Formats: sequence, structure tokens, C-alpha cells
Amino acid sequence: MGMAIPPNTAQADRLKDRIEILSVELLEQQRPLVTRLRRLARSLHLEFGWHYLLDLSWILSQVGNTRSASSAPLRILDAGAGTGLIQWYLAEQGAEVISVDRMSRAHLPLRFRQRFRVQGLRKQDLAPTRQVFQNNWKGAGKLQVKLVNQLKELSSLANLHRSAGKVFIYNQDLRNLADIPDNSIDVVVSVSALEHNPPEDLPLVRAELLRVLRPGGALLATLCAAEQQDWFHQPSQGWCYTDASLRRLFALAEDVPSNYDRYAELFQALRGCEELRKNLARFYYRSGEGGMPWGVWDPKYQPVGVCKTKAG
Ligand SMILES: C[S@@+](CC[C@H](N)C(=O)[O-])C[C@H]1O[C@@H](n2cnc3c(N)ncnc32)[C@H](O)[C@@H]1O
Repeated sequence: MGMAIPPNTAQADRLKDRIEILSVELLEQQRPLVTRLRRLARSLHLEFGWHYLLDLSWILSQVGNTRSASSAPLRILDAGAGTGLIQWYLAEQGAEVISVDRMSRAHLPLRFRQRFRVQGLRKQDLAPTRQVFQNNWKGAGKLQVKLVNQLKELSSLANLHRSAGKVFIYNQDLRNLADIPDNSIDVVVSVSALEHNPPEDLPLVRAELLRVLRPGGALLATLCAAEQQDWFHQPSQGWCYTDASLRRLFALAEDVPSNYDRYAELFQALRGCEELRKNLARFYYRSGEGGMPWGVWDPKYQPVGVCKTKAG
């Protein structure tokens, strides 16, 4: 499948295992992609996690180098997808995305359903559209707020554009993807999701993701990096991992390349990144939870990408 995702010409056709702390230089290197991501997010009323532009551009620049095993659309599993941007971007580019999250998206807002071809993987994974309409009126809350939300949804119905690709909603824990056959997925992507699992669960999750991946396919995941030892970032409820832990948890060989030797230098550049600081999402300012409590720019960790390919 030819995706409008810039291939990273520095890489060979087949992706190679590696660990890469995400440099803020990605923002410039992937500028056209970054601009498209911002535009899509705005049109979907989605806000970004503070480092997500790095995560998304790193993952998508690798996906641009992968091909479907057949002439069929690229089949991508988004692990811990929520309603996050990458699945919508990939569907717009023509991919078939299986969107997995243990949080139910059965009542997915109408704006996503209208713009993208969305289906439940199982019947119970996606409630009928009319139920979403009805639910918008139910429950507590000010009538005015409900009215504004409903109008927002209705205005999205005027958008006649439909994605080339498709998103299958699958409300399921990543430790057990019982409805997905072995070797059926070209690429697994995961944006800032796996760190929300206790370390002892990660090998189970990894094994399940590799089971569904076709031989030669790649798992591209972003997590949080730690320099000296693993630690738990309470406000975002996420684990930060050392290079050694990532090697163990993802079963990566000792000689797999990593840029952890540049940890301090990359962190300094991240802390000084004006573009990310100035574009902090509004939700951070409203809460002491999350990656940037109360919107005070003070990164406590940096994002790291892991690429793990399946032998074959
Ligand atoms: C910080 S959110 C990121 C969501 C999305 N990737 C994005 O880009 O906005 C992490 C998500 O991962 C999901 N998640 C984490 N571990 C999971 C697991 N074991 N099974 C299913 N979902 C999981 C959570 O439910 C949550 O929705």
C-alpha cells in the first residue's frame, strides 16, 4: 500500500530492532507530517499529550517504510488506541486499523463515525449511532452544554468526506487478543500506552502482540525513558524504563542499537523545546494528574521508541 507518510530514507526497507529516545529534532525533520497531524487533530477536536507529536512522527515515519504482505491494504493494530490520533491518520491514508483498548469506545462520538469507516470487531464493540445520539441527552449536566456538544456532533455530519481505510474497534485487554488470528497484522503501533502496565505484565503483552504480527512485521511502540533505574511517574500513572529494562521486556538482543548514551543531552533539548512548551494541551492546565501537572512545563521523563521485528 502506498501511504502518504514520508519514508525515512535513512532506513533500509525492512525495519531493524532498536531503542531510540525521541529527539525534538523530529519536529523539523518531519515538519510536513507534523503539520498534517496538527490539522487533523484540530478538525477532530483532539488534543495531544505533551510529547505526542514526537511519538506520532517517529512511529509514522517508520510505518512509511513498511509494506503490506499482499496487495491488500496495510493491516495495522493500534495497541492502547483510546480515541487517539494515529488510528484516524492511518485510516485516512487507506490502512485497515484494529483499534484495541481496554477502555470501551462503544459510544464513540459521531464525528469519528461520520468521517471514518468505523466498525466493531465484535457486535458489542460499537453501539449503534442512534444510541450515541440518545445518550448525549441523558444523565446530569447543563442543557446548554449538551446542546453545544450535540451541535458540534451534528456539524461533523455535514462532512461528507469518508476515509479510504477503516477502523475496527476492539474493546479488549492487550494481554488477550483472542479474536485476532496469528500472523495476521503487518504492523503494530502503540502510542504512549504500554507504560501504563505493570512491568510484570509487559512480557505477556509483548508475546500477544508478536503472536498476531506477521513474520517480518514490526512492533513500533513509544514509552517513557528512565536513566538509572525504572520508576513510576505517579501523576501520569506510567512507568519509565531504563535501556536494560526495555531490552528485557521486549526481548531485544544486547547488540540492538540504542541512543541512551545521549540521554542527558536529549533531555536538555526536550526541556528547552519552545514548540512543545507553547502548544501544551488545555487539559493539562485543569488538573494535577497527567504528564504535565497544572500545565507547568517541567518534563519529568522523555519519550522513547522501541522497534521490535518478528523473525521470519
Ligand atoms: C495515555 S493513553 C494513550 C491513548 C492513545 N494511544 C493516544 O495516542 O491518545 C493510554 C491508553 O492505553 C490503554 N492501555 C494501556 N494498557 C492497556 C492494555 N493492557 N490493554 C488495553 N489497553 C491498554 C489505556 O486504556 C489508555 O486508553
